Amino acid sequence: MTLLQIMPEDAPQTITVHSDDLDVIRKELLRIGVRFARWHAARRLPADADDSTIMNAYRSHIDHVSAESNHRVVDIARMTPASPGPGQPRHKEHFHDEDLVRFVVAGAGCFYLHVAGQVHAMLCTAGDLLSIPSRTKHWFDAGTRPNYTAVRFFQDDNGCAARFLPDSIAARFPAFDELTVAP
Ligand SMILES: [Fe+2]
Repeated sequence: MTLLQIMPEDAPQTITVHSDDLDVIRKELLRIGVRFARWHAARRLPADADDSTIMNAYRSHIDHVSAESNHRVVDIARMTPASPGPGQPRHKEHFHDEDLVRFVVAGAGCFYLHVAGQVHAMLCTAGDLLSIPSRTKHWFDAGTRPNYTAVRFFQDDNGCAARFLPDSIAARFPAFDELTVAP
């Protein structure tokens, strides 16, 4: 389930917004300059869809985002329990020098956006597009048993380096596994 939870940066236990209403999510994210949209595939994708199948299913959307954002390089990132990705660094607060544009194809992952004295925990699921302005402090968590496939957009072939912050607040906030536990 797509979900937004907002907490003050100095009070992780205090939840000021907790919503799965897409209009509420869109408006709250716009306030911090983050664009949120929902995409639908041109046709239903099999669970084991390869990269080209995914690209073709979303071709018109991908081309549109590439053109408007100047992010011409597109790839597919996959995280699974057997291949969970690079691990701990993604849980540490950092920023990038270019906009972060991600479209979640399958599974779920949470982007924690640290902006204006608050943390916006944006739990994205299949169909969600996020466009986060450059230099926005953030971290990412897909849980201890990740199931996450996303289209990533970059400005050039070198990808986009993460600049880690020495005073990350990430560890104080609820992790993906806690956010996704049913109340
Ligand atoms: Fe990042």
